[in-house]
Amino acid sequence: MSSDASWWTTAAIYQIYVRSFADGNGDGIGDLTGVRSRLDYLAQLGIDAIWFNPWYRSPMADGGYDVTEYREIDPIFGSLDDADKLIVDAHELGIRIIVDVVPNHCSNENVWFTQALDAAPGSKERSRFHFRPGRGTDGELPPNNWESIFGGPAWTRTRGADGSPGEWYLHLFAPEQPDFNWESEDVHAEFEEVLRFWFDKGVDGIRIDSAALLVKDGHLGDMSEDARTLAPGTHPFIDRDAVHLIYERWREIADSYPDPRLLIGEVWLENVERFTRYLRPRELHSAFNFELLGCAFEADKVRAVVDSTRASHALVGATPSWVLSNHDVVREVTRYGRADTAFAMDDRRIGDPVDLVRGTRRARAAALLVLSLPGSVYIYQGQELGLFEVEDLPDEALQDPIWLRSGRSDRGRDGCRVPMPWSGSAPPFGFTNGEATSWLPQPAAWKDLTAEAETGDPLSMLALYREALRIRRGEAELAREDLDWIDAPVGVIAYRRGPELVVVVNLSDTAIELPKDATVVLSSAPRDGLRLAPDTAVWLRAAGVTHIGPAPARPVVGTSA
Ligand code: GLC
Ligand code: CA
Repeated sequence: MSSDASWWTTAAIYQIYVRSFADGNGDGIGDLTGVRSRLDYLAQLGIDAIWFNPWYRSPMADGGYDVTEYREIDPIFGSLDDADKLIVDAHELGIRIIVDVVPNHCSNENVWFTQALDAAPGSKERSRFHFRPGRGTDGELPPNNWESIFGGPAWTRTRGADGSPGEWYLHLFAPEQPDFNWESEDVHAEFEEVLRFWFDKGVDGIRIDSAALLVKDGHLGDMSEDARTLAPGTHPFIDRDAVHLIYERWREIADSYPDPRLLIGEVWLENVERFTRYLRPRELHSAFNFELLGCAFEADKVRAVVDSTRASHALVGATPSWVLSNHDVVREVTRYGRADTAFAMDDRRIGDPVDLVRGTRRARAAALLVLSLPGSVYIYQGQELGLFEVEDLPDEALQDPIWLRSGRSDRGRDGCRVPMPWSGSAPPFGFTNGEATSWLPQPAAWKDLTAEAETGDPLSMLALYREALRIRRGEAELAREDLDWIDAPVGVIAYRRGPELVVVVNLSDTAIELPKDATVVLSSAPRDGLRLAPDTAVWLRAAGVTHIGPAPARPVVGTSA
C-alpha cells in the first residue's frame, strides 16, 4: 500500500452496507466473513478504500446507526477477531479501511442510556443525554416542538419501573436513538477513546455520522416556524458553531498517529460556505459533497454544482468529494430514469414512472463524470453493477424506521439496501449460500445484473467501472487538481483535466460531433464513429482541442481604423 500522506485526495472509496453485501454463514444477513470472501472482487474493481456502515453491536432499529457498544462487532456480523482479519486482508490488497462512528446518538440499549433511565432527574447519568420535564399541567406535552428527522416528535416520555410517567428525552432520529449531550465531558472522553480504539486497530479513517448535529442549543426552546431561514449557525441543532471544537480535538487525535488517519464528515448543509467550514485545515479532511446527488442531470445545473463545489473547497484549501449514491438515497439508475432527475431526501417519489434503460445510460455517463472530476469519489455497493432502486418491496418486508415513523407515507430507504446479486439466475443470487432467504427480497430482474453476469461482458456497468478506475489510477492528468471548462453546445459539458485529457458529457437531446483529432480513451456507450449520442460521456485524448461542436462565435476584439 502506498504511504502517500494524501492518498485520500484522489481515492475511490467503496461503501459497504455489511448487512447487504455478502453472507458468509448462510443466515441471510451479510457479515464480515462474507466481505472477506469478496475482497478479491473489490481489488479487481480497483478501489482504494472501503467505508463500512456501522458494524457495532446494535439492536438494528436503524440498520446499526443505533449503537449499543462502539468497541464490539455485532454478533450478526461476526467478531472483533473477524474485523482484525478483515483489516489485515484488505491492507494486504492495498485497500484502506474506513469505519463509521455515530456520535450524535446511541441505542436505547446502550448501557449509558439504561443507566440514565434508572437514575433520577438531574443525575450525572441523565446529563449524558437530553432529559427534560414535559410541558402541560402533568408534563404530558413534549419539552419543545422539535420534530424527528424520521417523522413524529423528537421527544419520548420515560416511564418508571412502576409505569409512572417521567421526564422526556430527545432523539433527532428514532426513539431508539437517544441523542448524546455534547456538553457532557463523559461524552467527549468516550468518543475520543472510540476513535483511538479503531485507529489503534489499524483503520485508516472515520466517517462521522450526522456530523453537523451534535451540538444543541442548551435552552432546548421551541423552534421558530421559519427554521429554514434562520441565520447560519443559529438553528437550535443544525451546524452550531461549537461543533467545530469537537472536530479540532479529533483532528489532533488523528494527527497523533504517524501515518495519516482520515476524518470524513457526513454534513448535509445547503450553504456551501458553512459546509466547507468543516474542512478547515485543523478540522476534517473531507466531507461528503451531496450537491451532485440531489442535482438534476442537466448540463447547466451539473456545471454549476462543479463550479460551486470547487470554489467553496478552494476557500479552505480542501479537496472535493463526489457522491452519486449511498444507503440513504434512491439509486441513481432510478433517479435518472425519471422525467425529473433531481432528488430530495424528503421526497423519494417511490413509484414515479421510471425508464430504466435511459436511467442506466445516464448513470453510465454520470460514472464517467464523477470518476473524472478532481477529488475523491464514493461508490456505493451495487452502483458498479448498475442496480436500480427496488421500489416494489412488500410492505411487510420494510425495515427502515422511516416507514412506520412517517405513518406509512414514506417507504424509506430499504429499496437501495437490497442484498447484492453475485451470481446465478434466481434469488438469492449467491448472496447467501444457506437455506435462509436474504433479509430483503431481491428482484428477479437482477439476474442480468449479477457480478458474475457482468464479468467478462464488455458492455456491462461493471466493465465500465473497472476500466474507468484502472485508467483513473494510471492517468496522472486525472490526479491533478485543476479543471478547465471547454466551450460546448447547449446541454453539453466539456472540460480539460490536463494538457491532453478532455471529458465530454452530452446531456442534450441530440448527438454531437467530437473533434476529428481526438482519440477516445473511454466511452460510456458504444459510439458511431466520433458522434456522441445523448446521455453519453467520453474521455478523450485531445491535446489541441479548444471547443466541442461548432466553433463558438467570438466577439471581434479591437477596432478597425
Ligand atoms: C445518517 C445515516 C443514516 C442514519 C442517520 C441516523 O444520516 O447515513 O443512515 O439513519 O444518520 O444515524
Ligand atoms: Ca450472515
